[in-house]
Amino acid sequence: MMEKDPTVERFLFNLNTLGELGEEICSPKDFNSVIKSALYMVMGSFFASKGIIFKYDPLQKIFFPVVSKGIDNMAGITLRLSDEAIGAFVGYNKPLDLKGSSPMLSYFSPVRTEFAKFGARIVVFLIVGNELIGALSINDKFSGEGYTDYDFQLLSIMSQHLSYSLHNHSLLVKLMHKYTENKELYENLRQAYYNTIHSFAAAIDAKDSYTKDHSHRVSAYCSALAREMGWAEEDIEGIRVAGLLHDIGKLAVDKTIINKSSPLTKFELGELYSHPVVGYEILSKIKFPWESIPMMTRNHHEKVDGNGYPDKLKKSEIPIGARMMSLVDAFDAMTTNRPYRSRRSFAEAINELKNHCNEQFDTDIAHTFITAVRKEVLELNSPSIILHLHELLDITAIDKLLEHFPKT
Ligand SMILES: [Fe+2]
Repeated sequence: MMEKDPTVERFLFNLNTLGELGEEICSPKDFNSVIKSALYMVMGSFFASKGIIFKYDPLQKIFFPVVSKGIDNMAGITLRLSDEAIGAFVGYNKPLDLKGSSPMLSYFSPVRTEFAKFGARIVVFLIVGNELIGALSINDKFSGEGYTDYDFQLLSIMSQHLSYSLHNHSLLVKLMHKYTENKELYENLRQAYYNTIHSFAAAIDAKDSYTKDHSHRVSAYCSALAREMGWAEEDIEGIRVAGLLHDIGKLAVDKTIINKSSPLTKFELGELYSHPVVGYEILSKIKFPWESIPMMTRNHHEKVDGNGYPDKLKKSEIPIGARMMSLVDAFDAMTTNRPYRSRRSFAEAINELKNHCNEQFDTDIAHTFITAVRKEVLELNSPSIILHLHELLDITAIDKLLEHFPKT
């Protein structure tokens, strides 16, 4: 039987460890587990009982421990080297024997006492390109044998693996930090955007003393209706914004015309009827994420029989969003007190929608709208709808109405 060659045995063992180390570092496990296993593998390869890995923070110019074994009280400790020492070690990626005679030891002297506390014998700086990433240190071999040139070569290779692992982790942390910053910035901008839209809606509604919160309700009805129609979330968001802004053209109409309780003159009607086009002209100059908003605004007073305004469009010529908005706009007008009449009950309003299906309103949209309102109220989803309709709603009556409501 052939006798085993201890040198070959050790070489094979180390080769195997290097393979495992590479595998560990590339594994999808969390960083702490990876770096801990990597340190244990390095220590195991040299029979060391104590080891530590530091990470270097180039902004604060400090080393701080990320993992250690066999060493107490290292948590929270930070080490600092001079800029000159850092510059020297960036170009020196070989292991440094703290009991040796390398001239590089002079750069290390400010932190030597700290390393001596845990019996450090070897230190190797972890470098990627020209960037200092961290440092690894282990103590004497458990067997008492010295470190050989072969050990130094092996430790150099292992340190390169560790350097890339730490470097990748730093890049990931930076990326996550940037992502969080950008997300916060986006949220702030988004909030500012919605605040502006809500201010416009409040300005529009303030012109008409009888239709307080009308734009908010139209917006809520539109969202509920779009959700019931199976729209995607981003499109629902679009019609929600359109609902808030659909009457923006009224900002250009004299307040006395909007609030007049007696019949309007031909001129006054012309002024009032101009608001969808004025709104379209205002909104088409704004770059919305939803391109359909200006057209929804322009056509929210069209009727499916072609007798609406301003473009006298018929049926499917009217954009779907505008057909939806036309219906909920009329529904909210019916269920709101006006200077010349009290608000209608929910059932009366639904009957009114029913009577004007295929003339003013799209029948399918009307049917879906009643289902959507019923659901919103039962599931307490939309506060503005629920509060507004609370006294008017009778779910049994709605169910009866739905039973006999036409569908195309
Ligand atoms: Fe309008």
